[in-house]
Amino acid sequence: MKVAVIGSGVMGPGIAQVFMMGGHEVALNDVSEKALADGAARIRENLDLMHGMGLLDKGSGDYMPLLTTTGSLREAVEGSRLVVEAAPERPDVKQAIYNELDKICAEDAVIVSNTSSFPLPDMFPDFRPGRFFVAHFFNPPQVIPLVELVKSDRTDDGAVEWLKKELEACGKKTVVLTGYKMGFLVNRLQTAMMREAFHLIRCGVVKPEDVDTATVAAIGFKSAWQGTFDTMDYIGLDTVALACGAIFPDLSNDTGVPEMITEKVREGKLGVKTGQGFFNYEGDRGAEVLKRRQKVLLEQLKLWKKYMS
Ligand SMILES: NC(=O)c1ccc[n+]([C@@H]2O[C@H](COP(=O)([O-])OP(=O)(O)OC[C@H]3O[C@@H](n4cnc5c(N)ncnc54)[C@H](O)[C@@H]3O)[C@@H](O)[C@H]2O)c1
Repeated sequence: MKVAVIGSGVMGPGIAQVFMMGGHEVALNDVSEKALADGAARIRENLDLMHGMGLLDKGSGDYMPLLTTTGSLREAVEGSRLVVEAAPERPDVKQAIYNELDKICAEDAVIVSNTSSFPLPDMFPDFRPGRFFVAHFFNPPQVIPLVELVKSDRTDDGAVEWLKKELEACGKKTVVLTGYKMGFLVNRLQTAMMREAFHLIRCGVVKPEDVDTATVAAIGFKSAWQGTFDTMDYIGLDTVALACGAIFPDLSNDTGVPEMITEKVREGKLGVKTGQGFFNYEGDRGAEVLKRRQKVLLEQLKLWKKYMS
């Protein structure tokens, strides 16, 4: 089938790559020629990296003919059975795109947004009711297996089921949320953990680096292979009940943005992209960290493919 991906920023190219690796033709659209050229270059590079690491049988030369890049939205969606919107997280920008899409998409096209936060089908109820919903990929989308699909009671179940099967055929795992909750599933779990981490740091019992050591050396190490409920069964539910009774009342229920973050933002310390955040990424350090992250995630994907898919 042909898939249109709208937006060639951080997420669009990786999403395009997912469908290319599944053997589909993809038209990548953006208002910026540079974003399209950079996006295509990143796809080529990532395909070759994955091929070199034994994750793909074929290299970029075999996949790239499946990709077209275009500044024309009409050209991108023409003949597309699926349209994935990955434009900036601004409702006004998204609305302008949907107004256009409504005029030019095939009647039976399935249209999804990669939004991280908005209940878009509720915000734009007249836009392709039933056939427009959320498909939330994770960064980097060509690597992280999960896609969250979020439907409401107005969504066409057949459209969700169809996309679920298509994504699974492209090697993805899906979870379907049957209602909108701010942050969907993964970001809610993650922010709950962040809130508790900030709380413990404020209490003075740990530092950020301790939280990170605990996250990767215990929680993450196990969570890659054992889910939350699976873990509870393994611990023993009587023990879990005792732990919940003792720990839940002591957990943070703060609702404000932690001062530690607002302070960093005020100082312009935004993380890897500015060279400093909670940790230091100045000089070559930022590039090194990103390179290592990409390599390690691909090694993890190899294990995932071996044991979990
Ligand atoms: N960045 C992440 O880690 C991440 C993760 C999951 C979901 N998301 C979501 O994915 C979506 C895209 O995020 P991103 O980080 O890739 O954004 P981004 O800003 O990096 O990229 C957006 C791209 O859309 C292009 N664009 C702007 N207006 C357009 C238009 N009218 N038509 C076509 N293209 C247009 C921009 O030129 C840009 O290249 C957002 O909804 C975001 O919330 C982001």
